Amino acid sequence: MSRPGGEQGAEAIALAAEQRFGLRLHDGIRRAVVAAALRLVEEGASPDLTELAARIASAGASDPVVRAVQRAASVGETSLMRMPEQLRALVKRAGAELVRGAPAWRPFRIWSAGCATGEEAYTLAILFRAAFPELELEVVGSDMNGEALATARRALYAGRSLRNARLLPEGPWLLAAGEGRRVAPEIRRLVRFVEHNLVTDPLPDPALGLSGFDVVVCRNVLIYLDPARTARVIRGITAAMRPRSILALAPSECLAARHAEELAVLPRALLLRGPPPAPEEAGARPQVAPARVPEHPPGPPAPAKPPSRSPEPGRAIEELLQEARRALDRGRIDDAARLLAPAVLQAPDDPRPRFLLASAAEAAGNKGRALEELRRVLFLDGGHVPALLSAARLLDAERRAKDAARHRRRALESLAAMPQDATVPELEITAAAAARIARHALARGGAR
Ligand SMILES: C[S@@+](CC[C@H](N)C(=O)[O-])C[C@H]1O[C@@H](n2cnc3c(N)ncnc32)[C@H](O)[C@@H]1O
Repeated sequence: MSRPGGEQGAEAIALAAEQRFGLRLHDGIRRAVVAAALRLVEEGASPDLTELAARIASAGASDPVVRAVQRAASVGETSLMRMPEQLRALVKRAGAELVRGAPAWRPFRIWSAGCATGEEAYTLAILFRAAFPELELEVVGSDMNGEALATARRALYAGRSLRNARLLPEGPWLLAAGEGRRVAPEIRRLVRFVEHNLVTDPLPDPALGLSGFDVVVCRNVLIYLDPARTARVIRGITAAMRPRSILALAPSECLAARHAEELAVLPRALLLRGPPPAPEEAGARPQVAPARVPEHPPGPPAPAKPPSRSPEPGRAIEELLQEARRALDRGRIDDAARLLAPAVLQAPDDPRPRFLLASAAEAAGNKGRALEELRRVLFLDGGHVPALLSAARLLDAERRAKDAARHRRRALESLAAMPQDATVPELEITAAAAARIARHALARGGAR
């Protein structure tokens, strides 16, 4: 077939698509992109390929031509439980390095970056739900291909998508649906999807909830990117991860990790952000010492000296809080509690140390104590969003759905009064994203 615009036009299309979406088009995908462009010309979207190339370069992201070409440039091969060994290793590592002592005031957050039609995101939700039933989970799947995401939201799979489904942990995760299977509502509630291009969109992006992740899985995506842009993408992904967190890449893409110094390579193409893992001895990990969260009111400050050398009380409390957050993030609950006791004494009307104390209590498994401390926070500040959301979660666990819903509604009121792009302290996501999560939890009626 002669091409309207010829070889030069085809070249212009491939180049425009590569630049617009940050990709390197391999032969097969290049052909698919040019074929899609030719179809668009035939349908009258543009007089020829050269003009179409100019439109790809300059039109807005919602332009149908841009979307059609982006779709053609996206290779959506995926399946549930793809690369099962790596996923099992990831869950095991996350359990050992992150889940134990995970901060209690926020959900454990997982990102499937380049999730295509969503199988990977649901797989992660199933694996983590099965391994850690008590953990509050939030899974985000992102992709540049909006059409693939529409399929992901339907959560209905058949054929190749299911080829490894039998390797999922046992449980009611997939329901029969005609010829295929639909992901169970319990899992779908944990997962949401956002359209995002790893190369051309901002990263991290707190407004989309693309920040503060404990686990990121980005497999079979980097191979499609323009190699000159991989370094920036890896650094962006790393910046969207929590100080201690795990990234999983496809083994063939693991070399890209050299672009982020803070990533330590673990077996099976897993990368740890944060201090190196403790040495494993005969499979046993050092135990986190049982935490002793100080009783309320905290005891005299003598045995729990603030480590700060600052003579100014204002500065001392900020340093104590920062240290305590770091300790909590790393699962050092005892250390956090030791830092918070003097902070509470020093600033009895400040809700922040009490909130962190509640988080330490919850991380130590003392939910009653955590709720008690959250009530004190809410006495000091009735609209404290992280405290309202934490209390709601604890009330859910006590099957007090009405009370939980009341707390979430109060959190939504507070969030509505904030600038929507402001970051909510302690949550590290914007007010808009926090409201989305709270509404999501309200909609599921507190059922966990
Ligand atoms: C082969 S699939 C991988 C799916 C899944 N991660 C897996 O391993 O099974 C690659 C996906 O990456 C997406 N992708 C490619 N480049 C991207 C980019 N720059 N930003 C976001 N997604 C991208 C494609 O749209 C496609 O859906």
